[in-house]
Amino acid sequence: MYDGGKIITGIIIGLVFLTFPIWYTHGTVPPRPEVKLPVKEKECVEPRPYMKTKHMQLLDLWRDSAVRVGKRSYIAFNGKKYNMSLQNTCMSKDCHAKKTEFCDECHNYTGVVPYCWDCHIEPKKEPKEKPEEKH
Ligand code: HEC
Ligand code: HEC
Repeated sequence: MYDGGKIITGIIIGLVFLTFPIWYTHGTVPPRPEVKLPVKEKECVEPRPYMKTKHMQLLDLWRDSAVRVGKRSYIAFNGKKYNMSLQNTCMSKDCHAKKTEFCDECHNYTGVVPYCWDCHIEPKKEPKEKPEEKH
């Protein structure tokens, strides 16, 4: 009853389709973006591997703590005290002031679009890119 030939052909065709993304791109992926780390500050509020994978959870925690509990100071892993603020701490001039070269670089690559900037103000662009408007 079973037609072995057809089943095998079917499996082969299936495999070709499944592995299409691998052989079509020769197993390569687009080059990872180069994110620019802050020059002045050498440490974030938590160690780098933690920030890489957990920064979104930490930001949520900061937001909930500041907005709902009213607690705004955060003791970092190195014992330093920080104000839990997206704009004034994370994006401050000594840290990730260049959003386009850090957050955006990686989010564009991974297809992430945080909605935070619907309300929060992005750091000002470098004067070279966008001259200050005179009022
Ligand atoms: C609908 C508008 C809105 C959106 C969207 C929004 N926030 Fe906020 N956020 C606020 C307001 C209003 C406050 C209160 C400001 C204060 O009291 O300092 C706040 C406060 C915060 C704070 C603490 C205070 C500070 O200065 O940063 C953090 C952290 C924060 N938000 C993170 C986030 C993150 C992360 C996102 C995106 C995932 C986000 N917010 C999206 C409106 C928003
Ligand atoms: C090395 C890569 C990388 C960098 C740099 C980076 N992010 Fe992310 N971010 C991610 C990835 C990946 C996700 C999605 C994780 C997920 O969906 O589980 C994410 C998610 C987020 C989210 C949650 C968005 C959502 O809709 O759930 C927020 C908020 C966020 N990032 C804020 C920032 C901010 C602010 C910066 C810059 C100070 C930044 N990120 C820098 C990789 C990065």
